[in-house]
Amino acid sequence: MTDLKTKYLNLNLKNPLVASASPLSKKLDHIKRLEDAGIAAVVMYSLFEEQITHESHALDYFLSRGTESFAEALTYFPEMENYNVGPESYLDLISKIKAHVDIPIIGSLNGISSGGWVDYARKIEQAGADALELNIYYIPTETTITSNELENAQIELVKDVKNQLRIPLAVKLSPYYSALPNFADRLVKAGADGLVLFNRFYQPDIDIQTLEVNPSLVLSNSYDMRLPLRWTAILFGKVKADLALTSGVHNEQDVIKAMMAGANVVEIASELLEKGSKRITEIIQGLESWMVEYEYKSIKQMQGSMSHKAVAEPAAFERANYMKVLQSFDHRIG
Ligand SMILES: Cc1cc2nc3c(=O)[nH]c(=O)nc-3n(C[C@H](O)[C@H](O)[C@H](O)COP(=O)(O)O)c2cc1C
Repeated sequence: MTDLKTKYLNLNLKNPLVASASPLSKKLDHIKRLEDAGIAAVVMYSLFEEQITHESHALDYFLSRGTESFAEALTYFPEMENYNVGPESYLDLISKIKAHVDIPIIGSLNGISSGGWVDYARKIEQAGADALELNIYYIPTETTITSNELENAQIELVKDVKNQLRIPLAVKLSPYYSALPNFADRLVKAGADGLVLFNRFYQPDIDIQTLEVNPSLVLSNSYDMRLPLRWTAILFGKVKADLALTSGVHNEQDVIKAMMAGANVVEIASELLEKGSKRITEIIQGLESWMVEYEYKSIKQMQGSMSHKAVAEPAAFERANYMKVLQSFDHRIG
């Protein structure tokens, strides 16, 4: 018997496959399909700081104008019109999902600044979420903002959110920090029980005909996993937090690599959006067959076995390997 069980954010999961935040959690039916296919837990799509603060600005506007309708007040902030459902509907959806499924549900907040909006962390917990993922997606564009200021602000935000919660907190972060292990450790000391590696940045393109900047969304492929794979391997055993690997997990080999690097779970979005929930069943079956063939009894046995501190040649994860890799191309050019 192969044992696929894993623990993440104090949740006992039947396998390491978690549905990452995506539109697949917008409907109860979709989540039920994911559950039926075998997913161990689902991360909800994010509720954004902008949505929450927008709603309260709209409410202020409504209260100060008195006679205006709330709907009109909402249109006063037109840039928000295409966003997801509002914060209250988000909470209602979590309660509804929790009433209808057995798997753990992880709420998701997406924001960058401390403030009143972090109340929603507690509201998400009260709605029944089993844990919360905080996504700190930020692109600095000013030359005056230092990395120290930015990191300090993010640490404060994590502390504020943690203060609202009794359920575990994971922080989904970007790979672009000068000293990632140090920042990861600071996040954990500020209250993160888990780290989600990494946010996938949607890189804008320039349309040279229309002269527009297009923020197009391209789904991932397995190669995208290399970045979180390296950092999972490096952080494993060095920070006191669970690790979730996200970006580029498409098949059972990817799951196995993530586990060996040291992840507690993988979070998958693109593969499920592209090919549907049946992929979960297929990946789980593939994982079991592989484990039988290679005589692994449990996922636990695999976890961290190829991490930076476990491998015979840790330099493979470091700069030392850089020259060797570059030289490996020499023979191709004759
Ligand atoms: C259409 C779409 C919507 C997403 N929405 C969110 C979101 O609301 N919050 C979030 O933290 N990540 C969101 N993500 C990022 C995914 O959760 C995931 O981290 C990322 O896509 C990398 O995983 P993948 O390679 O399996 O797609 C979204 C991704 C896609 C493709």
